[in-house]
Amino acid sequence: MDGARLLQELNRRGWVVASGTAGDLRRTLAVAGAQPTATQRGRSHSFLRPYTEQEAPPNTMSAVYGLEEQPLHTDGAHLHRPPDVIALCASEPSATPTIVWAGSSTYPTVPAYARSGIFTVRTKQGSFLTSAVDGGRIRYDPVCMSPSDGMAREAVGYFTSLRASAEEHHWDSPNLVLLIDNRRCLHARSAVAEGDETRRLERLTFRLEKS
Ligand SMILES: [Fe+2]
Repeated sequence: MDGARLLQELNRRGWVVASGTAGDLRRTLAVAGAQPTATQRGRSHSFLRPYTEQEAPPNTMSAVYGLEEQPLHTDGAHLHRPPDVIALCASEPSATPTIVWAGSSTYPTVPAYARSGIFTVRTKQGSFLTSAVDGGRIRYDPVCMSPSDGMAREAVGYFTSLRASAEEHHWDSPNLVLLIDNRRCLHARSAVAEGDETRRLERLTFRLEKS
């Protein structure tokens, strides 16, 4: 695993798949200059598993969508500084794909109303207002963000419509990692396949930019 090449490829297409473990990835990306950064509950490393709506922790995507397909979103949208890159790592194959939509590398290819509409972001510490596109970064998670004006309501429709042009990553062999540029891509878990309720993904989150 070559961290510099992975980051180059990530920059070119927005997401990239490699063979290896979470430990391999953390080591190789550290050498290439990516720093672990926290998302949920202050952690840069977490384990993801499917939850039904009833058993899911409150205020999570699973609490709303359970085992059904998730809406496309970015991770850490409730944070003032979301992670730049997320890595999903699976040691075992899984029949539940991850969906990814990749925007342009130079500037997110989103319509003007999606850049101008104002959303309210709810966090445990209170709420703040923001647009879904700030500079070159997309921030969108319909679970913690509500549209606060007409343009933002249109933006919700736009982000939902991207599902039609999104691609699927299939976890069809052991020890795969899926790196996603969280600044320009949206992602989601597909509906949990029958018999795949015990699947586990490890998630690492990174910061690339210094400021
Ligand atoms: Fe996510």
